[in-house]
Amino acid sequence: MGVQRCICSHVTLDEVVRRAQAGQNFEQICSDTGCCQGCGMCRPYVHLAIETGRSQLPILSPAQAEAVLNRAQARQRQEESRATEDSAN
Ligand code: FES
Repeated sequence: MGVQRCICSHVTLDEVVRRAQAGQNFEQICSDTGCCQGCGMCRPYVHLAIETGRSQLPILSPAQAEAVLNRAQARQRQEESRATEDSAN
């Protein structure tokens, strides 16, 4: 048994993966579905689903969850940096 959904918003990680594969980023997925906007416990799992394309995830240790969030933050910084470069060109 693992994590398959955002409990607060009833959004499955299947839905998260489908939206990510359709090109939505984390912020778009959260604002469209409401996931990660309640208790926030699903946040690392939503990021991990986006990162891996997997929708059935094992329960993460606090260190694993932090590592996922750090990777997500690094990706977000890269996306912002690329967007800034694109707008400058
Ligand atoms: S489980 Fe997703 S916000 Fe609470």
